[in-house]
Amino acid sequence: MKALEGIKVLDFTHVQSGPTCTQLLGWFGADVIKVERPGVGDATRNQLVDVPGADSLYFTMLNHNKRSIELNPKNEKGKAVLTRLVEECDVLVENFAPGALDRMGFSWERIQEINPRIIMASIKGFGPGKYQDCKVYENVAQCAGGSASTTGFRDGPPLVTGAQVGDSGTGLHLCLGIVTALFQREKTGRGQKVTTAMQDSVLNLARVKLRDQQRLEKGPLTEYSQFGEGIPFGDATPRAGNDSGGGQPGRILKCKGWEQDPNAYTYFIIQAAIWDKVCDVIGEQDWKTKEGYANPPERLDKLNEIFTRIENWTMTKTKFEVMDICNPHDIPVGPILSMKEISEDESLFATGTLVKVDHPVRGDYISVGCPIKFSDSSVEVKRSPLLGEHTLEILSDVLGFNGEELKNIIASGAVGNVN
Ligand SMILES: CC(C)(COP(=O)(O)OP(=O)(O)OC[C@H]1O[C@@H](n2cnc3c(N)ncnc32)[C@H](O)[C@@H]1OP(=O)(O)O)[C@@H](O)C(=O)NCCC(=O)NCCS
Repeated sequence: MKALEGIKVLDFTHVQSGPTCTQLLGWFGADVIKVERPGVGDATRNQLVDVPGADSLYFTMLNHNKRSIELNPKNEKGKAVLTRLVEECDVLVENFAPGALDRMGFSWERIQEINPRIIMASIKGFGPGKYQDCKVYENVAQCAGGSASTTGFRDGPPLVTGAQVGDSGTGLHLCLGIVTALFQREKTGRGQKVTTAMQDSVLNLARVKLRDQQRLEKGPLTEYSQFGEGIPFGDATPRAGNDSGGGQPGRILKCKGWEQDPNAYTYFIIQAAIWDKVCDVIGEQDWKTKEGYANPPERLDKLNEIFTRIENWTMTKTKFEVMDICNPHDIPVGPILSMKEISEDESLFATGTLVKVDHPVRGDYISVGCPIKFSDSSVEVKRSPLLGEHTLEILSDVLGFNGEELKNIIASGAVGNVN
């Protein structure tokens, strides 16, 4: 049995944030019915196309384990079909621009009227307030949620991250909200509305930077490199480069081959508990007892000197040798892995974190599988649906339309070209 078996999800999501959420629900075993605009579908089907004529990797990698129905709820018959879907489903997930669902005639009040047990889950860029009507994409959320102002180097501009904390991060938050609401519904029998704003999700993930904002009011942030460099702090949490976000100082350091390989680097943390071992590994035994080096707080104004010395050592080793040497001593280090190295890592395929998926139009591709592992609910990654691939089976098997009624729906144009 799969954890969410029997749960039907009306997936009215597009682009990245919403689809990440419904893909998780699909992996957990829910029947996810993706509603797409007839003849067009989710815009990402045709974005960043690498195989002409095939759905893009952008789409396929975010829409596994779903069925697709083409449906235009702005058409009268389409409205009737969507109403039936709302009646049938346990969860409706959407991430349209603010007001779009209301304009279709499906406000939260109307949805509750149709199905009081339904959980309606929405992603918007901002919560209620002055920006509530704005359309928002990933990087806007990273900027508005405090991530960009605290990412990058002090002497450079704010930076966005490669990890999609705005879109996928919000999808994860929403997914947790949905399963929590399903759990509550077990007891109350009632559905509810669950909303997640992208700004809020990014801020939640950047909470250590708000921590630092408040610490800054009490004095300098001593674990930031700029403290040791004697550069005064301003009134807001600064960009910390590659300094560790926690209480244990850390840096990204060059490894052997860095001149040619842009990823020949390691992250290196000088956790207080293993300081003596770090000194042994790099050959600075004196630092174990030397004044100004022996105690963690005394080292904070010498981080540049200390990490330069460690880097002199890491530059003589590959990033994997650093890992092999340091791990037995419990020294926390991590090689900077390229996406090429990750995509060739057999151990990630063995755990299902990476999967090879077959697709009828594009052929084999690699995707990220479910990152959450269950001991009693297996996850099988199924390819994304073609546009409208399941229109007919959803209309007949899920919604019970048949005969003349079905013919009329198809003839109305509400569900695209059904073969
Ligand atoms: C992502 C976003 C910026 C995209 O904006 P967009 O491409 O202009 O898309 P919208 O959500 O505004 O929807 C466009 C229209 O398509 C219509 N539409 C959507 N599905 C439809 C369907 N199946 N049939 C007919 N029309 C449909 C909507 O009703 C809307 O029409 P309206 O504006 O006339 O009412 C916007 O949806 C948004 O801000 N979403 C919330 C935040 C979010 O999730 N952002 C991250 C995306 S990764």
